[in-house]
Amino acid sequence: MTLRPASRLRRASVLILLVVAACGGAQTSNTTPSAITYVAPEDLAPPYPDLDPQQIAAGEALYRTYCATCHQTDLSGEPNWKTPKADGTYPAPPHDSSGHTWHHPDALLVQIVREGIDVPGTSMPTFGDKLTDPEIQSIIEYLKSSWGPDERAAQWQVTWQQTRR
Ligand code: HEC
Repeated sequence: MTLRPASRLRRASVLILLVVAACGGAQTSNTTPSAITYVAPEDLAPPYPDLDPQQIAAGEALYRTYCATCHQTDLSGEPNWKTPKADGTYPAPPHDSSGHTWHHPDALLVQIVREGIDVPGTSMPTFGDKLTDPEIQSIIEYLKSSWGPDERAAQWQVTWQQTRR
């Protein structure tokens, strides 16, 4: 694979996307990569934008009120979050770099929080009647503030690709 003039950051984004593609999604992180995803240079997002400290602070306060009981104040999720409980449902996953949250573009994350997740019996609530979309977005910005540069770059890439269309 030849990458024409690309910054180190952009190269990092490509590699991260390959890892994301290999993981496939929630609860399948042990899947062996079956296909190589090539991101053409023109599809690579520009460097991810800085976060707004005020938005992060607002999101943190909302997170503590509405999300921390399950996802934990330190974003680490419930213990053994990859193992189903006796009733077959999954514990609340982490929202820091160790979870899956950063695999999803902004629009999907907002939708999950607003409308819930399509998993039978899940304890993940819907928040459409309690939080506005901008409030939900501020929570997402707070989550982003805990991610490392690789997770930020990968999540920005999928967010950017989606909004560009
Ligand atoms: C009552 C417990 C509970 C509360 C409160 C809760 N969640 Fe969840 N959440 C869950 C569970 C459990 C899951 C896993 C869904 C599944 O697979 O069943 C989840 C999943 C998610 C996911 C999907 C993560 C992924 O990797 O796909 C997001 C995003 C999320 N929650 C965000 C939030 C936010 C933001 C709040 C607060 C506004 C919140 N949750 C409040 C229990 C909760």
